[in-house]
Amino acid sequence: MKKKSAIHLCLVGGSVLLVAQLSLLGLLLYPHNQRHTHFLKDVETLVNITSKLRMSLVAIDSEALQHFNNQKNGVRMQCVLCETKHPATFVTLFRGLKQSDDFVSMLQEARFHVVSLQNLNPPEVPSGISINIPICYLLKRNIVIHLVLFHEREGNYWWHGGLLSDPRAISELSTFGLSVHTVQMMKTEGAFDKFETDLVDMGGIPILIPKNIPRFLHDTESSRFIECSHVLADSFHRSHGKDTTPEALRFVHRAWKLLSKAKTLLDKLGIRFWISSGTCLGYFRQCDIIPYSKDVDIGIFISDYSEKILPEFLAHGFTLKHWFGKVNDSLELSFSSGDLKLDIFFFYEDGRFLWNGGTQAKSGKKFKYVFPRFTLCWTEFLELKVRVPCETQAYIEANYGSDWFTPMTRWDWKSSPPNVRENGEWPPDEWSEVMRVYN
Ligand SMILES: *[C@@H]1O[C@H](CO)[C@@H](O)[C@H](O)[C@H]1NC(C)=O
Ligand SMILES: *[C@@H]1O[C@H](CO)[C@@H](O)[C@H](O)[C@H]1NC(C)=O
Repeated sequence: MKKKSAIHLCLVGGSVLLVAQLSLLGLLLYPHNQRHTHFLKDVETLVNITSKLRMSLVAIDSEALQHFNNQKNGVRMQCVLCETKHPATFVTLFRGLKQSDDFVSMLQEARFHVVSLQNLNPPEVPSGISINIPICYLLKRNIVIHLVLFHEREGNYWWHGGLLSDPRAISELSTFGLSVHTVQMMKTEGAFDKFETDLVDMGGIPILIPKNIPRFLHDTESSRFIECSHVLADSFHRSHGKDTTPEALRFVHRAWKLLSKAKTLLDKLGIRFWISSGTCLGYFRQCDIIPYSKDVDIGIFISDYSEKILPEFLAHGFTLKHWFGKVNDSLELSFSSGDLKLDIFFFYEDGRFLWNGGTQAKSGKKFKYVFPRFTLCWTEFLELKVRVPCETQAYIEANYGSDWFTPMTRWDWKSSPPNVRENGEWPPDEWSEVMRVYN
């Protein structure tokens, strides 16, 4: 009898526990599903409104795209769009937003709270980007949606604003429970190469996503954009005039073509480069190519060096003028194209510094040009989307001193730069390898 009642007790106890566990599971699952439902409803409403207005709406949330990519590889997830810790992030083209008033009123009719942030306080006045243009929308019904606006720029790429170019941004974000840190995009301005999209099914909703997800995620990591300072350029041209003689204009045009060609070749090889030395000084100081500079200078991290560079340039109308150094030390390539020169300086890491090397062909002397560490940003330079050191002024000052604003007519690459150091000599038995000069 005693044994029987013990079994009975166990059975009852077990069932009670099971029921308790099941209801706990239900409690845990139910709000989750409800959240997903709310999430998808909001997204579907936005998709419906944008498609009515013939706007393209592309999901660009990194986490959602990552989950979607994993799902293609067999890892299932209930709602890829829902699992992000940021507001759901989408992008649309500003050009496609012809009826922005209709867009806002349709969203409001659907009971979305809508705020648009604008380019009210841009640090510089970029050509073609006026103030008072919307740079993004913040939408809230059940969930918060961050709708980024891509603006088409002269250099045939997409640009987006930085949140803080609207002085109201911080207070507006906080009404959505957000801060500059909790949004995924627009902490800074950004630039993207144009990309194609794919229409996919996300939780039953047809949604556009970038066709090449890994490429898009990679580009997102390095999308920071800075604008050339048109204020500084105007001030430079007021103090020092602008050389508009036919010879100067002709040189600038040819140098531009050379830079554009180098960009095409390096982009094709997937090699990062930035404008360096005199070309960078011209960009920073006057948003232009310095007419008397005679050459175009670019920098490449030695970690991005590829053996394909030389054959690619030779196959496209460049002639090798000199090859100094070797891949692990002071590499510098110089090409000519017509009577113009393209110098490619390779940059090496050394603790807190980055440096590139120089070689004096007649003596075998080595030089070292030292720069404080820098990161790379996109910019638009004469309608070309190119990279510059984000810390542009520090880079310029390392190279040209604090007097960089004043045009210099006498410049000796071995002694003038404040960041030049002597760096020993190449051993004579290596000269034929490390000093190849062609004429
Ligand atoms: C979106 O549009 C589709 C097709 O017109 C419709 O079936 C669906 O109910 C709409 N959804 C919302 C949330 O408005
Ligand atoms: C570069 O490589 C050579 C061998 O090719 C080696 O002798 C030399 O020490 C290396 N230099 C540096 C700075 O690593």
